Amino acid sequence: MEFTVEKIEAKETYALRKKILREGIDLPYKFDRDLDRDTFHFGVLKDGKLIGIASFMKSKNDLFSSDQYQLRGMATSEEVRGIGAGKILINTAIDLLKNKGIKQVWCNARKEATTFYKKLGFKVTGNLFIVEKVGPHFTMFLDL
Ligand SMILES: CC(C)(COP(=O)(O)OP(=O)(O)OC[C@H]1O[C@@H](n2cnc3c(N)ncnc32)[C@H](O)[C@@H]1OP(=O)(O)O)[C@@H](O)C(=O)NCCC(=O)NCCS
Repeated sequence: MEFTVEKIEAKETYALRKKILREGIDLPYKFDRDLDRDTFHFGVLKDGKLIGIASFMKSKNDLFSSDQYQLRGMATSEEVRGIGAGKILINTAIDLLKNKGIKQVWCNARKEATTFYKKLGFKVTGNLFIVEKVGPHFTMFLDL
């Protein structure tokens, strides 16, 4: 499958965030740290069309090493699921994080997405928790 992965602007993530992550969910699709200097956004394209997004934000969660990033806003278009778009997106971003000397990446994963993250090497830490308006989540992390 031919995918292209590239850095994109925060505003380019908004349409897919709204459609995939905020459908029927009354929460903002713009995130506080979207425009921070340390934040970066990746998109995956197929036939020139943006079909997947993920955002990476420098963070300070005490559970993790000081050199850490949080992954947020991970989504791929429904019509391309299960063919590796999400995987190539995350793996490309991980290469960049490693080059920056980042030691851990973590996310609050929707319960139904945990298998996806596990296949990428992420592990669960802590117990299931509920994010209001979204549902059950696990915190997951990957050592880089
Ligand atoms: C979770 C999501 C990003 C996965 O994207 P994707 O493009 O389908 O993932 P990939 O095709 O790269 O999958 C990589 C591997 O994970 C597996 N996988 C992906 N989603 C899965 C799921 N929901 N359940 C079980 N396995 C899954 C794939 O089968 C594939 O396995 P393989 O390597 O053995 O072939 C996508 O389903 C999505 O956008 N879901 C809705 C929004 C969402 O939940 N986002 C995450 C919020 S935390």
